[in-house]
Amino acid sequence: MTVVEPERGAAEAVAANAALLVANDLVKTFGNGVRAVDGVSLTVHPGETVGLVGESGCGKSTTAKMILRLLAADGGSLSFGGVDLLHVRGRALRKLRARMQLVPQNPQTSFNPRLSIRSSIEFNLRAHGVQRGARGARLLEALDRVGMPAAYAQRFPHELSGGQLQRAAIARALVTNPELIVCDEAVSALDKSIQAQVLNLLVELQRDLGVAYLFISHDLSVVEHLSDRVIVMYLGRVVEEATAEQLWRDPRHPYTEALLSAAPNSGRTRIMLAGDPPSPTDPPSGCTFRTRCPVALEACAEERPPLLSVGGKHFAACINQERVTPAAVA
Ligand SMILES: Nc1ncnc2c1ncn2[C@@H]1O[C@H](COP(=O)(O)OP(=O)(O)OP(=O)(O)O)[C@@H](O)[C@H]1O
Ligand SMILES: [Mg+2]
Repeated sequence: MTVVEPERGAAEAVAANAALLVANDLVKTFGNGVRAVDGVSLTVHPGETVGLVGESGCGKSTTAKMILRLLAADGGSLSFGGVDLLHVRGRALRKLRARMQLVPQNPQTSFNPRLSIRSSIEFNLRAHGVQRGARGARLLEALDRVGMPAAYAQRFPHELSGGQLQRAAIARALVTNPELIVCDEAVSALDKSIQAQVLNLLVELQRDLGVAYLFISHDLSVVEHLSDRVIVMYLGRVVEEATAEQLWRDPRHPYTEALLSAAPNSGRTRIMLAGDPPSPTDPPSGCTFRTRCPVALEACAEERPPLLSVGGKHFAACINQERVTPAAVA
């Protein structure tokens, strides 16, 4: 896959600025007892890309929905541009919604099949109070930005390919001039070649518009390429956070190592994890990864490992940093 290299270093340049999004200790338990998100903290700075990875069911989309205020958080705090996002309502909430938009995994279901692309995108403009007279120009500008001919706006979702429809979904997100776009598995449903085109488009848009991304995927190789920083989740918790480069070169959590080893171009020996993730309704004591961890120690059952710095801004929630094998301590 050939993907334009995002400009590394841009994140460092903005790091000194105020954060755009700060999530602290977010918690969500569903009615069925599933603790989908169990104390997730993350920060996104203006213009940066933060990747969020982890296998199916680890709580990525639930985290995203809380951030976008599509789902109420049970606990924690959340601020966007300095505004308390968990308690804002009415007009102020509507204004904030325009500043953060979603590109979902499946545009086939996120576009109303009975509306033209134009109507769907204009609907988003109307929802954010853009006057009728200004909507046409905003629509055309967004279509142009995503490289979609204006004539396609008359089409209905089923008249576009998956890649074209995902471009339309990006245009729909762009029309409100957002500062943050949450891409939830935005390229997962696309062929590899189309994936690369859409990823390149996202990189270009960031360069031109300075938009920040929270880029969610189960595929670490996609996230690694695009992201300034990467957050790895397991069973509702953050287990590692680092720059993309640090994570690729020197993963410090055994779960990240296993994820990396599964990436096609990692050059690592594949680490097969035993079994399925444990049930989120009844997680193991201590470190929830220990039941599948190749280097778990007895002590791992005792306490939940905190996310600690393993050097600068590289954090990992694993007490076995020396990678002592269980046999060596037995
Ligand atoms: N509305 C809901 N009611 C009950 N449980 C839910 C609900 N939404 C999600 N869950 C559960 O919460 C956990 C986290 O789900 P979530 O969709 O956040 O995972 P994910 O990391 O996005 O997975 P995927 O990669 O498959 O999209 C899962 O165990 C899921 O079954
Ligand atoms: Mg999801």
